[in-house]
Parts: sequence; structure tokens; C-alpha cells
Amino acid sequence: MQVRSAVIPAAGLGTRFLPATKVVPKELFPIGDQPALHVVIDEALGAGIDHVVIVSSRSKPAVAEYFEPDEALLEALEAKGKTDTAERLRAIGRDWRVSIVYQDNPKGLGHAVGCARSTVGDEPFAVMLPDEIMGSSGLLAQMNGVCAATGGSVIAVAEVPRHQVSSYGVIDPAGPMSDDGVIPVRDLVEKPPIDEAPSNFVITGRYVLTADAWDEIDALTPGRGGELQLTDALCAQAARSPFHAVLSDSGRYDTGNPLGFLTASIELGLMNPELGDGLRSFLRNLDI
Ligand code: G1P
Repeated sequence: MQVRSAVIPAAGLGTRFLPATKVVPKELFPIGDQPALHVVIDEALGAGIDHVVIVSSRSKPAVAEYFEPDEALLEALEAKGKTDTAERLRAIGRDWRVSIVYQDNPKGLGHAVGCARSTVGDEPFAVMLPDEIMGSSGLLAQMNGVCAATGGSVIAVAEVPRHQVSSYGVIDPAGPMSDDGVIPVRDLVEKPPIDEAPSNFVITGRYVLTADAWDEIDALTPGRGGELQLTDALCAQAARSPFHAVLSDSGRYDTGNPLGFLTASIELGLMNPELGDGLRSFLRNLDI
């Protein structure tokens, strides 16, 4: 069954980007001329998803405003002959649906995702953490395929140096990786101490989950850091159902901190058909 909905948790305060995030939510920071959130939505649409559920916070009204039509702006653009730009704005949410739900208390990623349950309904769904940007929809599309083929949940993982594992959720592989990078998973652990990590394959920000994940999410009790951890709900799923990870080593940009955001902007800018050539020649001429 094709996954139709993607849950995008976007309720965080963005403290690593203060003071910039005092007024502008980090999900709306531009990558080229698009908000980072819209880049993630394009990735979802490219994988066949047509309903985006954003878990936001009432202290960030600009996130919801981004999806509201602005007739006065459209008229002003048309009057100036900027029809292409007007068309891009009109296309926001036209062939796909956006729902905004609110997380009133920050109780962790598991809680944030759980806020989307009634909006998504009883069907498989994707979770996309917007702090990570993938260069294309290929990974999510592959994960959808593995979910359909195995009937179980699928997460994306990357291989990191051992000393980095405690910053992530870590999988315990149940067997070898297939030629196309699919790994059966026995167990998962959120941010383990290095010497307790079952592998150095860490969860990156893409998940395709079967509908029974909702009950595990609702049943969560506080885990690592006193938060309701999505990883703990997946652990419960992996204990009784097929559960797989897909290795994604390329095209992943961590925009969750200022340096990562800057480097992602440059790498994605170089791939942008309109900005790439100009940025490339600017970088080549830098005396560094
Ligand atoms: C979350 C997840 C963690 C995952 C990480 C990926 O952690 O809880 O399992 O590895 O995202 O970015 P956070 O970075 O929100 O603390």
C-alpha cells in the first residue's frame, strides 16, 4: 500500500539558532529561495506522498501562515508580470494537502509524532525530521517499497564513526545487509553510551511506519532524557514484527546546527539549476 501521509515534527524552539529563531522558525530558513520545510515536502511528494502533517507549536504561527494563500501578494505579482513566481505560490498545497497539528507541551519526538495520529488515521505513514535534508526522494521511495514488500516498518540508517553513536538512535542488526542496503533489525536503542551501542548504524531522520506503530507511540513512557522517545515505540514493534533499516550513505545534509545549515545551503545550492553555476564560480574564485 502506498504511504500517503508524512508527519513532519516542527515544534522545536530552534535554540541552536538563536537569536535568528527568536522570530523566524528554523524550518522556514531558506535553502536557496525555498524554506527548508518546503524542500522536505518536495522530497515527500517525489515519493508519492500527498498529505503532509506538520506538528507545529502555537509559538511559531509563521509555519502555518506559509501554507495560507495570499491573494494580495498574488495580485501584486501578476500586476508586475511575475506570473512564474505567482504560479509557484499558487502550487503550494494545490495538488497535495497540508494539515497543521499542535504539540502543546514538548515531551519528546514520540509525543510530537503521536499528536498527528487522528489526522493521519489508521494507515502506514512516513515521519520526516526536517533537520535532515536528503538530496532526492529516492531513499523514501525505496523505504516505501521495502515496507510494502515486508509488511513491516522501515527506518533509514547511516554508518557513523563509533564515537558519534551516542547522539543517535542505534540499531541492533538481526542479520547481514542485502546488496541494496536493507538490514533486518532486531532491536533499537536511543542514544546509548558508546560501549553499549549494538552497532554503528544510526537512525537518520526518515521513517516509514506501519499503522500499529500508533498504539506503541500512545503507550510510550518516558525514556532517554525523560522524553517520550519514538525509538522506544519502534523497539516494541521490532520485537514482534518484521522491521528493516535502509542504509543511506549519500546525499544527507544535517541542517540542525548553524555550520551544518551553511554547508547544506552550499551543497544544495551547487545542485540548484538556477544558482549552481554562479555559486560554483564564486567558490572557485575564493582565495582560501
Ligand atoms: C532523533 C531521534 C534519534 C535519531 C535522530 C536523527 O534524535 O530520537 O533516534 O537518531 O533524531 O537525527 P534528536 O536528534 O531529535 O535528539
